[in-house]
Amino acid sequence: MELSIAQADDLNSLTELEAELFTYDRITKKQFKYLLTKANGLIIKAELDSKIAGYIALLWRKNSNRMRVYSIGVSPSSRKNGLGRNLLICSESIAKNYNCSIITLEVQEHNQPALNLYHDMGFKYSTTRSAYYSDGGNALVLQKNIDN
Ligand SMILES: CC(C)(COP(=O)(O)OP(=O)(O)OC[C@H]1O[C@@H](n2cnc3c(N)ncnc32)[C@H](O)[C@@H]1OP(=O)(O)O)[C@@H](O)C(=O)NCCC(=O)NCCS
Repeated sequence: MELSIAQADDLNSLTELEAELFTYDRITKKQFKYLLTKANGLIIKAELDSKIAGYIALLWRKNSNRMRVYSIGVSPSSRKNGLGRNLLICSESIAKNYNCSIITLEVQEHNQPALNLYHDMGFKYSTTRSAYYSDGGNALVLQKNIDN
């Protein structure tokens, strides 16, 4: 597994991967382009055999100590191999580099694989956002304090 910062020429691969990962609330190609080129943030890609098998999109605001996990996903055929965990570990290093001391994320309340991963990684429940997703599902907001 190789982790690196995704670049503009990863746009098509990320968009294709996204279609495998989510059935609704997908990041569009246009949004990926923004994330890759303009946003206060970055995408870390995880490659297996030179193919993108997972990614995590991170965002932050100027003058804020919070970094947000905007999205994370691993292709179905590459799951349960530690990619998700490693993408989060890498994100913690990035948070420290950008002087962020808190990482936040939203997760669908019934997404057990993701909830297990986040709890394993030390994320704690913060609050619930009702009807956050387009299917009407609630989001749990989780956060982790990072020691800088
Ligand atoms: C959530 C997701 C990113 C996990 O990626 P992954 O690479 O398979 O995760 P890892 O192999 O690093 O697993 C780490 C831990 O997560 C938990 N986990 C992962 N898959 C799980 C599953 N199917 N069932 C239960 N727990 C699971 C376990 O605690 C696991 O630790 P273990 O291997 O010691 O049991 C992946 O399932 C995914 O892409 N899902 C679809 C997209 C999604 O839901 N993204 C999150 C949006 S908030």
